[in-house]
Amino acid sequence: MTHIIDKITLGGLVLVRDKMMAQQAAGRKVYRLEVGDTNFDVPANIQQAIADAMRSGKTHYPPSTGLPQLRNAMLKKLREENGLPVKDAEHVLVTIGGMHGLYMAFASLLEPGDEVILPDPMWSETAELIKRPGGVPVPITLRPDRSFQYAPADIEAAITPKTKAIYINSPQNPIGVVFSAETQRQIAAIAVKHNLWVISDEAYEHVIFDGARHFSIGSIPEIADRTITVYTFSKTYAMTGLRLGYMATNDDVIVDRCRKLLRLTTNGVPSITQWGGVAALTGPQDAVHEMAAELETRRNIFFEGLQTIKVFESFKPQGAFYVWSKIADAWPGYQGQRDSWAMTNCLIDRAGVGTSPGIAFGPAGEGYVRFAFTLDRPTLTESIEVMHDLFK
Ligand SMILES: Cc1ncc(COP(=O)(O)O)c(C=O)c1O
Repeated sequence: MTHIIDKITLGGLVLVRDKMMAQQAAGRKVYRLEVGDTNFDVPANIQQAIADAMRSGKTHYPPSTGLPQLRNAMLKKLREENGLPVKDAEHVLVTIGGMHGLYMAFASLLEPGDEVILPDPMWSETAELIKRPGGVPVPITLRPDRSFQYAPADIEAAITPKTKAIYINSPQNPIGVVFSAETQRQIAAIAVKHNLWVISDEAYEHVIFDGARHFSIGSIPEIADRTITVYTFSKTYAMTGLRLGYMATNDDVIVDRCRKLLRLTTNGVPSITQWGGVAALTGPQDAVHEMAAELETRRNIFFEGLQTIKVFESFKPQGAFYVWSKIADAWPGYQGQRDSWAMTNCLIDRAGVGTSPGIAFGPAGEGYVRFAFTLDRPTLTESIEVMHDLFK
């Protein structure tokens, strides 16, 4: 019998990253447009707090569920900013980034055979995280003719007696679409009607453009107690390498299961990272707004640049830091192929431009590629010029 872990596939994103890193190591000029990690530094007050924690000996075992100071700061933020009616700090758990929060959410909720509805395309790790405890991902196609919205009618049509939860991610990776408060209200109503859970992945809550406001589905009272919401410091505070995230739910059974999982796996997030988290949440948020504004400028530069490259038809993202581009019929292909891997290989081999093949995000992603605009403005502009020359 195949071991359940042998069934995990790490997929296309890892393959592209390895290929790009090999080229970089060989000294080739490359444009890492496949990476979901901005080039910003961690804000100075967070750096200082981490250094202070290290020097002052705050380096002993933290509680495995997280430092009380951090969980209290998270509770305040969740209530005031996200509008989540979290009971108390015991219902907030500190995790090693958003990935670990999602891992715990699915592991603590799902029984083998339970179905979870999720968008297609979707960040590829999500389906694997659902499958790990024996769950079954049920993808709903985000259609371009509906501006890639997560259509409530499609969600309801996919519900079976085995459906356990609806997963939602807004702003969404890879498309950068934002699901409106109205759409989220309709999804919440479906979840209430069918007695389902909602897992809300809000990794990009602060990377949102054009004056839009982030909406947390768990703030809707009717679904609040059946929602698990997952957050990360990775994108908001450029802390990808420091591995800090958190999850919140009002359900005591889920919290208790997660407490056990935390104790037996990580036994807590590194203490100095957690002190950085306290500074992040309790200090000024100027850097967060500055980074979001800079990303919006980068989006504009990159998206406008892409309009001049006729082999792409791109969707203008409303959040996150990716552009989702359809491979136009005008493209003749590469090495006899026209799919998203052919485009990815063409860009890497012929221009040193890293991208992610749409198929890596699910079947509905075929025919597309995802570009990350996480690098500085001159590099993005140069990457557009390089692609322009390649396809002219
Ligand atoms: C949609 C989504 N959720 C969660 C994560 C998890 O990020 P991290 O584990 O760095 O917090 C990512 C990372 O790219 C993501 O794109």
